[in-house]
Order: sequence, then C-alpha cells, then structure tokens
Amino acid sequence: MTDERLVVELRDLKFTTPLMLLSGCDGFGQEHERIVGADTSLIGAVFLKGTTVEPRLGNPAHRLWETPSGLLNAIGLQNPGVDVVIRDLLPRLDTRTTHYIANISGATLEEYRELARRFDETVVSAIEINVSCPNVKAGGMQFGNDPDMCARVIEACRSVTGKPLITKLTPAYHDTALLAQKCIDAGTDALSLINTVSGMAFDIRKRQPALGFGQGGLSGPAIKPIALLKVHQAARICRPRGIPIIGQGGITCAEDAIEFFLAGADAIGIGTALFYDPLIYKRIHEDLLDYLAQHQLNRITDIKPWSKQK
Ligand SMILES: Cc1cc2nc3c(=O)[nH]c(=O)nc-3n(C[C@H](O)[C@H](O)[C@H](O)COP(=O)(O)O)c2cc1C
Repeated sequence: MTDERLVVELRDLKFTTPLMLLSGCDGFGQEHERIVGADTSLIGAVFLKGTTVEPRLGNPAHRLWETPSGLLNAIGLQNPGVDVVIRDLLPRLDTRTTHYIANISGATLEEYRELARRFDETVVSAIEINVSCPNVKAGGMQFGNDPDMCARVIEACRSVTGKPLITKLTPAYHDTALLAQKCIDAGTDALSLINTVSGMAFDIRKRQPALGFGQGGLSGPAIKPIALLKVHQAARICRPRGIPIIGQGGITCAEDAIEFFLAGADAIGIGTALFYDPLIYKRIHEDLLDYLAQHQLNRITDIKPWSKQK
C-alpha cells in the first residue's frame, strides 16, 4: 500500500516509492509478479530488459560469473526485439500499480531513434537510453564514453518522443560532471548512474576467461563506492537544474539506499540483489520507513540535508 512518506516526484511523474527494479534484473516485468508475496505497489518503477531493434540471442556461455561481493555479467543484451516486446510483452503489463520504463540500446543513432519512436506509442512511462552497456561489440559504451556522441543519441531520441528520457551513464568516463552536463543540454529529463563497471575473471581449471564474451560488467556491492562518487559528482550539475538522478550500484539494504540519497540521488535502483532475494524491496521499504521515524523525518525527500533549505 502506498505510504505518502515515500512518494517521490521526478519531473512530471509521480512514483509510489523511490525503489526501482533495474534493467536486466527483472526481465520484461512479469517475473516478479509470479513470486509469492510480490507487491508492485511497493515498487516505484520497473525498468524493462534492454531492447534492440532486431532480436538478439546474446553472448555465448558463461554469461554470469560470481565474484567476491559482486557479479560479472556479459549477457549481451539478449532480447526478442522491439516488435515482439511491443506486440506481445507490453500488453501483459499491469500499469495500475507501478510504472514500467523501456530500456533501449542501439549500435547506431538511427537504431536509438527508431526505438524511441516505437516506444513513444506504448504504455511505458519513460524511456531509459542505455549508452553504457559494456557487453556488446557495437554501440553501448562506445557512445557512453564520448559525451558529444551521448548528446547526439539523446537529441535523436528527443526528436521523436515526448516521453521522459532517462540517460544511463557509464562509470568508465572520467569526467562525470561534463558527461551529465552534455546529456542535460541535449534534452535528457533524468540520469541513471551507474551502469556496470568493466571487469574480467579467469577460469583457472580451463585456463581461459570465465565469461564467453571475455570481459563483462561488474555489479553488486563491490561497485557501491564507485557509484556513490559518480552520483555525488553528477548531482552537483543536476541539482541546480532540477534533473533527477536514479542512483544505483550495489544497493542491498535501506542503509545503502540512504547513502545514495545523501550522495544526491532522488530515487534508487535495485539490480543484482534481486537475484538472491526477489522481494528485497519490501524489506528496504519497511526499513526506510523505520529510518524516517527514528530520525524524525516526515518524508523520504527530507533525508537530504539541502532539501530543508528550500
Ligand atoms: C544480469 C544483468 C543484466 C543487465 N542488463 C542490463 C540491460 O539490459 N540494460 C541496462 O541498461 N542495464 C543492464 N544491467 C545493469 C543494471 O541495470 C544496473 O545498472 C547495474 O547492475 C548496477 O546495479 P546493481 O549493482 O544493483 O546490480 C544489467 C545488470 C545485470 C546484473
């Protein structure tokens, strides 16, 4: 049930909670509904799996490899392609209790534009532009590591949709403030950060890279300090311009979420943690409310010291 203390508004969209399930960690939105005890009213939004124009089978196995405090993945954007997603998967979503947000990836500007145009006519509440996937040969981080290219991707999407655009940034680019500035100037409505951190592991029995793609993206608690710094750096640019940040990277509990709010995030995403506890958002929801009560805060937005100065 909605608790007004956790409601957040990001630009023109209202979310019942600031807790969002991240792309690639909840399929196309139906997966959590099958879990006994799931409650979508406690989830602010579900980011759908990355979608491309053509279907993709993804990378060869292994595509997941557990590491200390983290998970390496090289899924390779496996998805059935935008036609199937729009025709067969979106109509199954129940949009009454939560927002669903598309996540798009392209190898060219044209592909990004086409995907934004296609999702513009659907039930999704917003479109997240993934310019930061480390597990594909073309597109992805090639765009994300070049602020001008990122801007062109956003402009291409902006030209064909009025839906809110969220740009998902890579931690690999050294100047997060510049990257954020370019994305805002190009017309993004919000930023997501961070996507996974590039990494590698070796299978010492086979004496070869553990992942079929060779390298992968590291997620989970191991990347949290990196994510907090990047959110903090982006927030300096975003806050005065009213651009919300969806902070993510290694969040497993309410304490982690609070750290992200303090770094400057307006909402937070849960990804890898869902693989070992698909209902983890319920505990985080409850613990956030306890934290507010303990600290005599009326609303989640009051956690940030600067929000009181308004
Ligand atoms: C298995 C897996 C698949 C992912 N697929 C996508 C994807 O399709 N698109 C995307 O933008 N991010 C994708 N991500 C990145 C997550 O959405 C998230 O940004 C990242 O994992 C950091 O959050 P976490 O540490 O809570 O997992 C994926 C992550 C994992 C672990």
